[in-house]
Amino acid sequence: MIPTLETTRLRLRPYREDDIAELLPLIGTREVAATTLRIAHPYTEQDARAFLALAQEPGKIWLAITLRSDGRQIGGIGLRVDDQHQHAELGYWLGVPYWGQGYATEASREMLRYGFEDLGLHRIFASHFEHNPTSGRVLMKLGMRHEGCRREHLRKWDRFVDSELYGMLRQEWENRE
Ligand SMILES: CC(C)(COP(=O)(O)OP(=O)(O)OC[C@H]1O[C@@H](n2cnc3c(N)ncnc32)[C@H](O)[C@@H]1OP(=O)(O)O)[C@@H](O)C(=O)NCCC(=O)NCCS
Repeated sequence: MIPTLETTRLRLRPYREDDIAELLPLIGTREVAATTLRIAHPYTEQDARAFLALAQEPGKIWLAITLRSDGRQIGGIGLRVDDQHQHAELGYWLGVPYWGQGYATEASREMLRYGFEDLGLHRIFASHFEHNPTSGRVLMKLGMRHEGCRREHLRKWDRFVDSELYGMLRQEWENRE
């Protein structure tokens, strides 16, 4: 079951088909595509439909990040769970007008809580492109550990780029300050 989660300012909830009109202009900017691996640019209605279908697959917990105050969509966040290893990869993005207000950190902290406490995961990890230190800062603020750099691990827009890997173990979550 895909959950609905709440934080002080945010509601993280399952996507619905009627989200697409609001989603397209937010996810469709070059800025959002430039630092993400799987967001196409340009991003079409067909891409959005394919994403919504993918979000139904087992192991995918993709949620719309919305503001509790007025229900507006501001971005997306997800865990890709691998049951065999009891681990999951965390990913997130926000529409440009919503950057720099702590929303990614707030949403991600709740996803970590959900992953460790509700799903009983052993490990959660995330990675970011070398040219996206903002995301590295989010992961540090969450208390994740920088585990290394996978050199030129990924290809983005015809360039090989380093991928910085971060992770947290269940015990580290339990022992956090
Ligand atoms: C990455 C992203 C999700 C960050 O969201 P956000 O809500 O702005 O992040 P937060 O406000 O929670 O935290 C950002 C932190 O990065 C810091 N920061 C901003 N620009 C920075 C830079 N160039 N270098 C280092 N840190 C930077 C901010 O100061 C803040 O840290 P602070 O609270 O200590 O001041 C958002 O920029 C985004 O959606 N980008 C496009 C998609 C993307 O890159 N997704 C992640 C893929 S790994």
